[in-house]
Amino acid sequence: MKDLSEKRESFAGSMTAIMAMAGSAVGLGNLWRFPYLMGENGGATFIAIYLLLAIFICLPIILVEFIIGRRSQKNIYGAFEVLAPGKPWKLIGICCTLAPILVLSFYSVVGGWSINYLLKALSFSFTGENSNPEYLSSLFSNFVTDPYKPLLFHTLFLGMTAVIVAVGVKKGIERFSKIVMPLLFVMIIIIVVKAVTLPGSSAGLNYIFKPDFSKVTSETVLKALGQAFFSLSLGCGTMVTYASYVGRKENLLKCSAGTVFFDTIFALLAGCAIMPAVFAYGINPSEGPGLVFVTLPHIFSQMTAGGPVAIIFFFSLLIAALTSSISLLEVLTALLTEELHLKRTWAVVISFFLFWILGAACSLSQGVLSDVLVFGKNIFDLFDYISANILMLAGGLLLTIFVGWALGKKVIREELTNDGSLRVPPVLLQTIVFLIRYVAPAAIIAIFIFQTIS
Ligand code: TRP
Repeated sequence: MKDLSEKRESFAGSMTAIMAMAGSAVGLGNLWRFPYLMGENGGATFIAIYLLLAIFICLPIILVEFIIGRRSQKNIYGAFEVLAPGKPWKLIGICCTLAPILVLSFYSVVGGWSINYLLKALSFSFTGENSNPEYLSSLFSNFVTDPYKPLLFHTLFLGMTAVIVAVGVKKGIERFSKIVMPLLFVMIIIIVVKAVTLPGSSAGLNYIFKPDFSKVTSETVLKALGQAFFSLSLGCGTMVTYASYVGRKENLLKCSAGTVFFDTIFALLAGCAIMPAVFAYGINPSEGPGLVFVTLPHIFSQMTAGGPVAIIFFFSLLIAALTSSISLLEVLTALLTEELHLKRTWAVVISFFLFWILGAACSLSQGVLSDVLVFGKNIFDLFDYISANILMLAGGLLLTIFVGWALGKKVIREELTNDGSLRVPPVLLQTIVFLIRYVAPAAIIAIFIFQTIS
């Protein structure tokens, strides 16, 4: 195959690639979505199912995306032109582009919320009489339903994302991820240490680590899979796009396992940072999406040194969100620059306006547009539901079928061993091929059917 890699930018090495990919994966999904879903769905049971799905279903799918991206060295649409010229597989590319468009729209709104809460933490707003739960809950709902303020922060967040992406893959995305990911790790560890040393925190750790499988329903499994897809940025071209910047000498197995490992560790750390504190202060763990923005500020106000801890937490939330939103924006940017031959800056500007409008609709759907319901959901929830529970699963399914059956075993083997130059045990290769061809697609289809029946 012709090597197109010199013409494009690429990540410096496998560790850098893992940082960028983990940057995409670790985000609001870990720090905001995972803790509240876990809280609503029975703690440890949810985690156990999540881990099984991450290893046996998501790891093969992430590999599939890496294979498509690295082999084609193209965006999610162009990749199919290179790998299966003249065939209708390109349509997958379109399906996969839709998901990041919907995701970034509401993601940027929540990213904006985290800027607002970081500013509040910096001015030590969660103290004294401002710390009771009723006040914090009305503060949150007044803020998100306000027609202007969240829009301002959404603009700011999207603007920061656009600047990093416009600067480029190496100087923007790679450099940013390399600096902030280790920082994020250190900060989350600080919060975990603080949380688990609170008196009464052990009940929270029990909640996270003692599974009760009698509580499992098909809905729990679907939610866990949707969350695993969301958290690992799967089924929507993000990983394909990032993998297209991975050099031909890098070890794809190492990159994918590293990404899944870091993402899962971050989700668990976020759980360990939040649940012990929730239990220590006698709060209901199934608080829902407000967990991070209502419950946590209350907890911060109660603990010693809560002010600085709040600053660290909301700063972490913001940078985790940024490293993910840049990966979402990069999907469309790569597509526009390569397929329509636009300059990078123009591609980013056009994307910015698109996401600004869709994001504004999501933001306003919390307040003035809350009456606009589609299938009983407001625009924000609709975008979240369609992307995580339908588009990304469908995208993941189609991508695995493409690699497992259309490209086939030989290509999988070539990519995982770098044309035979890396030694990978044959049993491992066979297992991976089996997971990609049978297990992952079957599991996704089964979960889809369950979802439709119930
Ligand atoms: N994975 C990120 C998180 O956990 C969000 C994200 C980045 C994403 N790229 C994505 C979600 C693509 C869905 C699709 O927050």
